[in-house]
Amino acid sequence: MTNDLFDIKIGYASPKNPIALASMAGITDNKFASGFTNAGLIILGGYNLDRETNDAARKEIERGRKEFVSGDPMGFLKAELEAASKPGATIAVNVRAASLKPFLEAADIAKKFGAILEINAHCRQPEMLVLGAGEALLKDLERLCGYIREIKKTGVVLSIKIRANVVNDVELAKAIEKAGADIIHIDAMHPQGVDFGVIKRVRNSTGLFIIGNNSVVDFESAKEMFSRGADMVSLARAVLHDHRIIKYLVDEISSFQAMTGWYNAPKHICAGGDLRALAFCCLPVKPCALHSALKQAGLSAEEFMKIKLKFAKGTPIEYGEGTCFGSMTWCCKITKPCYLRDGALESSGLSDVEYMRIKKRLSEYIRKHMKM
Ligand SMILES: Cc1cc2nc3c(=O)[nH]c(=O)nc-3n(C[C@H](O)[C@H](O)[C@H](O)COP(=O)(O)O)c2cc1C
Ligand code: SF4
Ligand code: SF4
Repeated sequence: MTNDLFDIKIGYASPKNPIALASMAGITDNKFASGFTNAGLIILGGYNLDRETNDAARKEIERGRKEFVSGDPMGFLKAELEAASKPGATIAVNVRAASLKPFLEAADIAKKFGAILEINAHCRQPEMLVLGAGEALLKDLERLCGYIREIKKTGVVLSIKIRANVVNDVELAKAIEKAGADIIHIDAMHPQGVDFGVIKRVRNSTGLFIIGNNSVVDFESAKEMFSRGADMVSLARAVLHDHRIIKYLVDEISSFQAMTGWYNAPKHICAGGDLRALAFCCLPVKPCALHSALKQAGLSAEEFMKIKLKFAKGTPIEYGEGTCFGSMTWCCKITKPCYLRDGALESSGLSDVEYMRIKKRLSEYIRKHMKM
């Protein structure tokens, strides 16, 4: 598959597809990762960047956990990146540290290799928490945002790995975005199972690149994340059960993208979709979920109509004789079967992929006009 099929760009990083291998301390080193060359993103680590976090990791090993430890953390990081860097592969390094300086050093190293740096604000091992590392950063937003601002000055592409439902996720994501991070990697963990809603809440409130994580085990669970607004999904435990899952998902999502043109298209608003789905909404003429979505977007029904009509003018979706509202501007997503829309597509010579690409641009256009 070529990079063009998905056209994913995050600063200098261009993952070839939206399926990632997530980091597992003591497991996902360059050797383990070499079995996953199909993945769009390989997240190595978590590596411990200073004496304090390496000592903490040694204590964890004593009680049976797996960890990567080194007496020369930066040398180790460099060696791992050297071994993992291959043409066409996008690599990230998930890292922990007890202070800013080691993150800055690691950012310079990662950038030299064209890799993404991922701050681990996710680990909840007590030995890390007492150092103020891992999840402790979520509860010290000022320090986390200060780190992000300083690390971004190195020019590295920066991801923040978080665990959902620890603090207010929307406030957290907005602060992370404002501080300048590029990616939010969300472990959508919830005491009652996976919280797909957190992906939607973050999608609706930020423009961050979102990696959705937790319990992705098949194409259905991957699609749940994508249709809530994830730009990429990552897997950890599932690859331990079956190494072939990454290749399987890459193949599935690639076929889906080739067929539909918008691999992470949202569900319709009335089916629980995020605000990108306003691109698929009808003329606002009936009482339905559209009106509360518009309220959230800060738009009146009239403004919404004008925005959609202005975008559609001169594009092939302006037309749509025989469809519910006389224009495909108001038509549903391509995966919803409809012979009326399909007839209009055929008359205008528009393919399914072209139709969905226009709808994607329409969703971006609507987003620009939202007043949130
Ligand atoms: C053995 C193991 C080690 C992990 N180590 C890390 C780590 O070092 N850094 C990190 O951000 N997440 C770590 N995680 C969390 C995973 O990356 C992932 O967020 C979590 O397992 C949920 O995703 P899954 O359902 O695909 O496994 C670890 C998970 C496991 C099972
Ligand atoms: S406008 Fe149509 S697609 Fe949108 S929420 Fe209402 S019924 Fe659903
Ligand atoms: S014509 Fe079909 S696709 Fe268009 S709005 Fe009506 S039901 Fe939806």
